[in-house]
This record gives sequence, structure tokens and C-alpha cells, in this order.
Amino acid sequence: MKIEAARAADLSAILALRQRLLQEGSWFVAEPEEETTQLGPWQRLLERGILRVARQGPLLVGVVMVRPGSLRRQRHVGALEIFVETSWRGKGVGRALMEDIVGVAPAQGIQKLSLAVYADNVRAIALYKFFDFKEEGRRQGEYRMADGAYRDDLLMARWLSPPPAPLPATPPPVDR
Ligand SMILES: CC(C)(COP(=O)(O)OP(=O)(O)OC[C@H]1O[C@@H](n2cnc3c(N)ncnc32)[C@H](O)[C@@H]1OP(=O)(O)O)[C@@H](O)C(=O)NCCC(=O)NCCS
Repeated sequence: MKIEAARAADLSAILALRQRLLQEGSWFVAEPEEETTQLGPWQRLLERGILRVARQGPLLVGVVMVRPGSLRRQRHVGALEIFVETSWRGKGVGRALMEDIVGVAPAQGIQKLSLAVYADNVRAIALYKFFDFKEEGRRQGEYRMADGAYRDDLLMARWLSPPPAPLPATPPPVDR
């Protein structure tokens, strides 16, 4: 298996994989018809973010992407998403993609990787914990599924460089 930067020629295959996974209904927040089928957003990610793919011979079997914050004060944080073709799961593709992104993201100015995951997505959470992602919060009942069931959202993150010193408990007085 090879992990490398996605190319413009990969975008249709990435979009098709994403659409297949959306159809599975279990992993992403958007329902299939809620996410654009245009290549534009993927093209922008290719230009401004990080888009890496796992290849097995001619097949594209997995994707990891990082979107840097669009505002200056959040530019050091990258929002991470990962997905692997159904028949290729549980074979180490996710692990290889995570290892790769943790290695390449700092050179793009990313100091912290953040993500949100359904709190019942045990496989993804196990992978993130293996890569030292820590829980930063849990949003209870953040998602309401079509059958009326609620799901919690887990916020996780990992610093790629030493985290900033904690803020003082009491903020300094404000000048008047
Ligand atoms: C989550 C996902 C990216 C993981 O990729 P993967 O290729 O299946 O994962 P790997 O085979 O590299 O396994 C990595 C680790 O995940 C965990 N894992 C893998 N399969 C698992 C399973 N069936 N149940 C629980 N944990 C599992 C284990 O910790 C595993 O490490 P191990 O092999 O040493 O036991 C992939 O399963 C996927 O695309 N799922 C659907 C989309 C998704 O949930 N994306 C994340 C949205 S936030």
C-alpha cells in the first residue's frame, strides 16, 4: 500500500468513495443528498488543505484530509476527516493514513489536529486514541437521526507540537 498526496485526477474517485460511504448512513453527519457532488470543494482542499490517499495498486482505498481553519486565529488547527473503502477496513489502511498525516501536517503549519466523531463509532475512536488523540468534549444528542434516535458527538484533538501553556485561571484585569 502507498500513501501519497492526492492529484487532481483522483478527485472523481474520492468523491465517488465519499458518496458510497455517505450511503452507508452511519459515519458522517450529512445525508447523501446534503453533500455536494461538485468537485469544487475537493479542488479547493487540494489547493489549500491537505488531501492524502491510500492506493493499493490502481485502486484508491482510503482518504485522509485536513482543512486548516479559515480564520487567521485558527489557521494552526486542522480539521481531520478519514475514510476507508468498506471492503478494505480493518486491514491497516486507516492506521497508515493516520501515521502519514501526523507526519506531513506540521510542514503545512498545522500544530493541532481536531475532529468530531459519533460517540458510538468505536472503530474510529480506537484508531484516534491509538494516535494519541484526547477527548476535548462531548456534545450530547447533537445529532437526531431519521428514526428519531439521538447520537452524541465526541470532540477529539491531538497537538503535533507542544501545546501552549494553560491560561491563568483568573483573567488579568481589563484596562478601563
Ligand atoms: C475508521 C476507519 C477510518 C479506520 O480505518 P481502518 O482501515 O478500518 O482501520 P485499521 O485497519 O487501520 O485499524 C486501526 C485500528 O482501528 C481499530 N479497529 C479496526 N477495526 C476495528 C473494529 N472492527 N472494531 C473496533 N476497532 C477496530 C483498532 O484499534 C485497530 O488497530 P488494530 O488493528 O491494532 O487492532 C475506517 O474503518 C472507516 O473508514 N470507517 C468508516 C468511516 C468513518 O467512520 N470515518 C471516521 C469518521 S469520524
